[in-house]
Amino acid sequence: MKIRQQKGLTFDDVLLVPKRSPLRSRRDVDTSARLTPAISLCIPIISANMDTVTEAKMAIAMARAGGIGIIHRFMTVEQQAQQVSKVKRARSFVVEDPCSIPPEASIAEATRLMDEHDVGGLVVLAADRRLVGLLTRRDVLLAPSSLASVAEAMTPAERLVTATPAISPAEAQRILYEHRLEKLPLVTEEGVLAGLITAQDLIKSRKNPHASVDAKGRLRMGAAIGVGTAEMRRAEVLLAAGTDVLVLDIAHGHADHCLDMLVALRQAFPAAQLIAGNVATREGARDLAEAGADAIKVGIGPGSICTTRIVTGFGVPQITAITESVAGVQDSGRDIPVIADGGIKTSGDLVKALAAGASTVMIGSLFAGCEESPGAHVIRHGQKFKVVRGMASLGAAMGRKQAEGGENESAESQEDWDKVVPEGVEAVVPYRGHVREILYQMVGGLRSGMSYGGARTIAELRTNAEFIEITAAGVRESHSHDVNTV
Ligand code: XMP
Repeated sequence: MKIRQQKGLTFDDVLLVPKRSPLRSRRDVDTSARLTPAISLCIPIISANMDTVTEAKMAIAMARAGGIGIIHRFMTVEQQAQQVSKVKRARSFVVEDPCSIPPEASIAEATRLMDEHDVGGLVVLAADRRLVGLLTRRDVLLAPSSLASVAEAMTPAERLVTATPAISPAEAQRILYEHRLEKLPLVTEEGVLAGLITAQDLIKSRKNPHASVDAKGRLRMGAAIGVGTAEMRRAEVLLAAGTDVLVLDIAHGHADHCLDMLVALRQAFPAAQLIAGNVATREGARDLAEAGADAIKVGIGPGSICTTRIVTGFGVPQITAITESVAGVQDSGRDIPVIADGGIKTSGDLVKALAAGASTVMIGSLFAGCEESPGAHVIRHGQKFKVVRGMASLGAAMGRKQAEGGENESAESQEDWDKVVPEGVEAVVPYRGHVREILYQMVGGLRSGMSYGGARTIAELRTNAEFIEITAAGVRESHSHDVNTV
């Protein structure tokens, strides 16, 4: 038996010591970071490959904001490839799936939908998704009260200016200006809606040069794969669909079968960007780096929905796991980034993870409450919530079993349920609105943190970093205290 003398530290165990700063404004810092040696991001944040966090909608929003999303793997290869294509087809100035309403719906329903989604108009679609009209808030407000249905108040399709899905931003701008339009529906030759360009989004996208885009100007994204022969095919299909990066993600990444898979992937797809994990030790990170990973994902059990440490007794507190893994990468002689995965509760945790040596962080449950995460919101005690579940939770395990077994296995036996040993939980988190708003707060905190650290770049933040271990009293003092917050 061996007991490491070093104490394992996590986010709440430490604070960063303020440094003399040459920075006059939070705007003077550069938050860009390497995801892998070949891919840089303007903001060092990744949405987790969990089935309650990242599918195409989240990946699109993350890339538009300058981060990246990793599509989870708990679906068929074809479904996952479709998700990849969806992101790759999305463009920063096109709303892929605008709010829609059928023509026979009432005006009151249209108003409610516009309020709920905070939009200024709805596309009116037939059951086969053909565009039949456009209804704006103005139409609704000015419509005589005698009008009952959307069909009566909308501008019908034949009077609308539309464009084809392949339109360029410059051409869209010209049409919007020439016809003094707010909205330009995109329709296929068959008249089916393929997206919507709004003047506001076009202006915003021009103002947002930070989106993560590939060489062809398409949004960047990643896709997760597991270990096994079938997963080699998954990797091939996902790369063919255009994924920028593959994330080889298993619970215990420092395992022979994970290392073998990584070597096989490297051989089969020499040009692919490969992230591998999860590990939490110097040796684990070194071995993955030596096996050919382009970035190492670090975290055994820090996640909000994880119970691995409780169920198995294994894990390393996250700040220590990051610093150890960074040392392991150095041991390998390779210069590849470390991703801190799990346990990020606040922007302060993000700053601490980067200061400890991570290049980016991966976030799960904090994003699960967003509009863009998969699944609808639920109402509890009059408040909106969304569901988050660990990928090793009972529900996720049974969901996978069902998907793998097809329809015949939809009714699992009690025995099936009893066989699962969950290492994660299912939970609800408050609905948090759009992920862009959360990212704004996170990046604002990071910018501020970098100025406390006297750092213009994330590399400087790491070089300047000096942590101080704190006590329970220090933690209490760090939060607002002795006041009733409003
Ligand atoms: P946060 O704290 O951001 O963490 O919600 C997200 C990360 O947690 C990991 N994860 C799990 N770990 N059991 C675990 O032990 C699980 O069921 C589970 N599901 C997700 C994963 O690394 C994710 O990115």
